[in-house]
Amino acid sequence: MILALETSCDETCAAVLEDDGSLRSSVVASQAADHVAFGGVVPEIASRRHLDLVAPAVAAALDEADARLADVSRIAVTAGPGLIGALLVGVAYAKGLALGLGAGVVPVDHLAGHVASLSLADDPPRGAHLVLLASGGHTLLLDVEADGMIRTVARSLDDAAGEAFDKGARLLGLGYPGGPALAALAEGGDPTEAHFTTPLVGRDDLAFSFSGLKTALAQAVDRGDVSAADLAAAYEQAIVRHLVDRARLGLEATGRDTLGLVGGVAANRALRDRLAELPVRVVAAPLAYCGDNAAMIGRAALGREAITGDALLALDAYARSPLG
Ligand code: KG4
Ligand code: ZN
Repeated sequence: MILALETSCDETCAAVLEDDGSLRSSVVASQAADHVAFGGVVPEIASRRHLDLVAPAVAAALDEADARLADVSRIAVTAGPGLIGALLVGVAYAKGLALGLGAGVVPVDHLAGHVASLSLADDPPRGAHLVLLASGGHTLLLDVEADGMIRTVARSLDDAAGEAFDKGARLLGLGYPGGPALAALAEGGDPTEAHFTTPLVGRDDLAFSFSGLKTALAQAVDRGDVSAADLAAAYEQAIVRHLVDRARLGLEATGRDTLGLVGGVAANRALRDRLAELPVRVVAAPLAYCGDNAAMIGRAALGREAITGDALLALDAYARSPLG
């Protein structure tokens, strides 16, 4: 059995998979309630909560999978990128457990984990494909070769898409996490009541930018002549237009005929609908695996060698990914 752990941000996650990758359980213990009063994730609180939650999450994942610790031969763990103190909780826990069990550890990059969440879709991409990863920390176009090799094609020049949702939500007086709240408010709004210019439009460099949209929203909120719901609808539409526009450019540049959609923002209904209009096969991660989870970390570890011994003792967490 594979035990997978994910503690890079504010969700403590554990999953159990069979050696062939079949998913037996996936537990996500959200800390959102611990951070809500601060309007965002407080790194020190996140680390402390991971310490409280990691052992119960593992116990729940084993229980749900009808498995025991003694069945675990490999531990997949997110080693980075993310909040370093939060990551260290998962990495240290995985190392200790592995040494106790005589198991090996497969360190997994969180971004490669999100890419692997596509394997949990009913009809996953086959062969090479382009992936749009949109989360709270990253907005990337990743080119995935048939053998699984990942190359970054586009990054954000400033904020991430999820950050744009979260900051926009705060400007509109909504709670944290802002993405789902802003999307819900946008549903009752009229997007034609406000206009936000699509970032980088007319430029064919493969990059994302969201900070100008946030500034434009702050100015519109200050003017106070458009309702919050209408602003939310227009703002969401502009974010979605930008993501779709860059995905189209990325598909043209790489020639890929399949687009994967992953990350927390992949749960956004408007984004899913608009991407479905592109003339390629679009595969979105299942809703349950868009946000952070350990099932995707376990999937990303498949076929990879586990480390043991001195290499395991030397395993460290990292805050920045070469992919990001
Ligand atoms: O992948 P994720 O769980 O964590 C990171 O790795 O960052 O992504 C979290 C992000 C947050 O910014 C959250 O507001 C956003 O995903 N998000 C959404 C929606 N659900 C979550 N953004 C827009 N619409 C949604 N429905
Ligand atoms: Zn994530």
